Amino acid sequence: MSALRLAICDPAEETRENLKHLVMGIDSVCLEADGSRYEFFFDVAKQSEPEAVLINIDSDIDAAIELIGKLRNEFPKAGIIAISSSTEGQTILRIMRAGAREFINAPIDAQELVAALERVGENTSAAGARPKSGRIIAVAGSSGGVGTTSIAVNLACSMAQIPGESIALIDLDLSLGDADVFLDSIPEYTLLDVAQNVSRLDLSLLRKSLTKHESGVFLLPRPVQLQDMETVNSSDFGRVLKLLKASFTHLIVDLSKSYNALDLTTLQAADDILLLTQLDLPCLRNVVRLLTSLETIDNLVDKIKIVVNRSGLDNNQISLKKAEEHIGREIFWQIPNNFSAVSEGRNNGIPLIDSSPNSSITQNIIALANRMTNNTVEGDDDEEIGEKKEKKRLFSFLSKG
Ligand SMILES: Nc1ncnc2c1ncn2[C@@H]1O[C@H](COP(=O)(O)OP(=O)(O)OP(=O)(O)O)[C@@H](O)[C@H]1O
Ligand SMILES: [Mg+2]
Repeated sequence: MSALRLAICDPAEETRENLKHLVMGIDSVCLEADGSRYEFFFDVAKQSEPEAVLINIDSDIDAAIELIGKLRNEFPKAGIIAISSSTEGQTILRIMRAGAREFINAPIDAQELVAALERVGENTSAAGARPKSGRIIAVAGSSGGVGTTSIAVNLACSMAQIPGESIALIDLDLSLGDADVFLDSIPEYTLLDVAQNVSRLDLSLLRKSLTKHESGVFLLPRPVQLQDMETVNSSDFGRVLKLLKASFTHLIVDLSKSYNALDLTTLQAADDILLLTQLDLPCLRNVVRLLTSLETIDNLVDKIKIVVNRSGLDNNQISLKKAEEHIGREIFWQIPNNFSAVSEGRNNGIPLIDSSPNSSITQNIIALANRMTNNTVEGDDDEEIGEKKEKKRLFSFLSKG
């Protein structure tokens, strides 16, 4: 995927540097050129042929407007985004009439910038690889030990293998979270550091605070000390999520089982919620209870996808059909039971894509990763494992000969 080619013009050094930092943290943008003089910027832009131009107009409004007009004529397809600390109607009108497509008020909100770049990117020739605000996938569990961390970590690693995807993994099990163990990493910073400094962080600094695993996943682990748990509040955490969304294509969040304020913040912000369960009565009963409780929050249950983990664990498991009847919903996905592969990977801190690349559970999680990123690959109907696939096999003789 090609990144959106961007040029920046801002005569004020401090705001120009801030702007550069901000865009450098956005994966799908490539900073081609930057200039500090309105009068010379036209020539700079000519060499780089940008698809989007960010112009801070505050240093000299008239010169900036003249530049916008020239750029508009020379590069009619380029999306010009004007930035100003002023919100005066007349100024904004002049800017828009000169040819700017977007206006952003300074100081810049990272999400607002990504959204503007996203809109601009949709209209350019190479649309497709455009800045997109990331999607949040919350991985929740219906009971302790149901496999949320195993699946969140391995899903994140599998998604990170897909070209064009950038993945951050957040461990929200603030007391006993072990996502770092699964990835054998010793992070320098934790969720506590990032949440406490969120107002001072720009996108590049934020990325640097996360620990990059060799799979490509960026990890934000739980705080080190148990007593630090209380210090992370949900409004700071909400801001962390927003910033991370501007910087990654997907955030995978391993929720705690306490459904506390941070878990609920994530569930509300999430685009997809994978609710993991096993096919036993206590788990299924909790699924029903969770669905009923979460029904009170707007639009939340519609985002929930039920995922059966450790499918085929023992013969006494409740059947898929009975489980669906009990829950009153379809099962979205089933992940097979493979204790030796999962526990080996876990104990050695190696994701399944490296420790057991060919096992059925790894292939299943890769298919889930493709499904969650809408990345359709051949034979990507693995979600039909279990009864549906069984039915296909039973009747497959009909199509033979
Ligand atoms: N698909 C699977 N097949 C076999 N074993 C699995 C599978 N998924 C998870 N496990 C095993 O289940 C146990 C619990 O897994 P994990 O720690 O991921 O669960 P969890 O829901 O995050 O637990 P906690 O509630 O403590 O956070 C581990 O021993 C793990 O190896
Ligand atoms: Mg866990």
